[in-house]
Amino acid sequence: MGARSAGDVVVAGLKRLEYRGYDSAGVAVPVEDRIEWRKKAGKIVHLEDEIAVRPLPETGTAIGHTRWATHGAPTDANSHPHVAGRIAVVHNGIIENFASLRAEFDVEFASETDSEVAAHLLNREVAGGATLVEAMRAVAPRLEGAFTLVAIDALEPGRIVAARRNSPLVLGQGEGEYFLASDVAAFIEFTRDAVELGQDQIVELTTDGFTVTDFDGQPAEYTQFHVDWDLSAAEKQGFDWFMRKEIFEQPRAVADTLLGRQNHHGELVLDELHIRPEELRRVNKIVIIACGTAYYAGFVAKYAIEHWVRIPCEVELASEFRYRDPIVDAQTLVVAISQSGETADTLMAIRHAREQGSKVIAICNTNGATIPRESDAVLYTHAGPEIGVASTKGFTTQLVACYLLGLYLAQVRGMKYGDEIAAIIAELEGMPSFIQRMLDRAEDVYALADELKERPSMLFLGRHAGYPAALEGALKLKELAYIHAEGFAAGELKHGPIALISQDLPVFVVVPPAGRDQLRDKVIANIAEVRARGAHTIVLAEERDEQARANADTFWPLPHVSTLLQPLVAIIPLQLFACEMATRMGHDVDQPRNLAKSVTVE
Ligand code: G6P
Repeated sequence: MGARSAGDVVVAGLKRLEYRGYDSAGVAVPVEDRIEWRKKAGKIVHLEDEIAVRPLPETGTAIGHTRWATHGAPTDANSHPHVAGRIAVVHNGIIENFASLRAEFDVEFASETDSEVAAHLLNREVAGGATLVEAMRAVAPRLEGAFTLVAIDALEPGRIVAARRNSPLVLGQGEGEYFLASDVAAFIEFTRDAVELGQDQIVELTTDGFTVTDFDGQPAEYTQFHVDWDLSAAEKQGFDWFMRKEIFEQPRAVADTLLGRQNHHGELVLDELHIRPEELRRVNKIVIIACGTAYYAGFVAKYAIEHWVRIPCEVELASEFRYRDPIVDAQTLVVAISQSGETADTLMAIRHAREQGSKVIAICNTNGATIPRESDAVLYTHAGPEIGVASTKGFTTQLVACYLLGLYLAQVRGMKYGDEIAAIIAELEGMPSFIQRMLDRAEDVYALADELKERPSMLFLGRHAGYPAALEGALKLKELAYIHAEGFAAGELKHGPIALISQDLPVFVVVPPAGRDQLRDKVIANIAEVRARGAHTIVLAEERDEQARANADTFWPLPHVSTLLQPLVAIIPLQLFACEMATRMGHDVDQPRNLAKSVTVE
């Protein structure tokens, strides 16, 4: 807000943030006791076209949003800002308890979003006599989940109030003008002086200044900083590549994908999943179809689903599925995994399965994409847009969605007791901090990447759920560093791959955790075998696993987690390694040669 036309400044800022979400956008301004807004599905240029036809009044205050849909398809109506009475609101995050809050209102909502309820809650408060900031203090603590909310009140046109919990919010301090955004890229052309708001804080902004309080209205501490990145670094939040930024976003992405999946009795409720429990009980076979990284996520899912649900589960490359005349029928449940939701091979496989009468559940990161639209049901991952071509947070959030689906099937089919499911969910909820711990050791991984950067070939071994993790580690290295990398099931070593072992060949080994001791012992024996033949072993094993450590040339400790969940942590150093290796080799990490983010032809 400030001297310029605030609407124009907001649209310019949204364009800078378009990489964070690009399925719809909108702007709202306070004019003469009412709110005016423009919002459009699609890229920001659609919003600009709309504003060109119906210009917004010039105002000193405006709010805007570029969306990456979580609840509700990317339509005009679901775009932000959401308006209720005097209030307009934009929201970044997920309001987990939106359904119960919505039930407090007897009015028809204009959208299917979780966000709109925030506008109604704030409007009810201001209509009852509260100021905007008082309204925010009343509403913010009632919202569960992750949110940044930015609101304006038509009757207080020179004021913006924002609150944050678990989602980012930064304030830019210009001369006589202020900016609020999810990251500094939005306002870096106007100011480089910024304030980072803390957890559970509310900021109130006028042209005269700003005040920061906690949700109780007490003055709160915040951090001031000066941005010395250029614009492209700012978009990447100071990281050199989107991919690296996305690797580091995984604790958040995994946590977001877990949000809002349980009711108050602790039962799993997968809201978006519109297949009736009776139908899921009739299923006698599951077929998972996907391509690339998503296929490896599906491979882990096979281990989890068969173990938890006791239904035969196949995993198949989407490109192979259709052409081999697969046996699927009305009792087959097909699970299609796709980050983009646009992969042609996966889409064709879905169509084929549905023609045979199978029900299809999509696991997808892109709300409203073709694959979820053509499936019977969808479970969205909440990774946010993935820009780097090689998938990272796409993979870990797909794993989480697969685990949730497996547990849900176990629940509806009575294969697990409620407390058993709750225990696994609790373990999943602990994963973001374990992933963070892996990220905190990035420097060790980078040092090894430097040491190994001239090697022409590398092998990855794993067993059980560690096998797909090894395959994914190898794929990352192929995609980014353009070197020959292969993943093998460790048990297959003696049936061929051991012939590849030569002096100094780097061999990465994912060791199963304690508790699967038979498997673990066998993998440790494999490490000894390759090491005896001169390989350089990089061992990913539990921190306390002294035997694994003793067999390692390089040891990367993993936290103690159950075998089925281990890929969520084991993949992190492998992603970092591939990213760093490619960087040191001078490759374009975000756009590797010959690859496309979304392959929309067969
Ligand atoms: C391409 C990308 C991979 C991705 C695969 C599947 O090959 O380069 O990173 O894993 O497509 O994409 P999807 O969007 O269907 O998950």
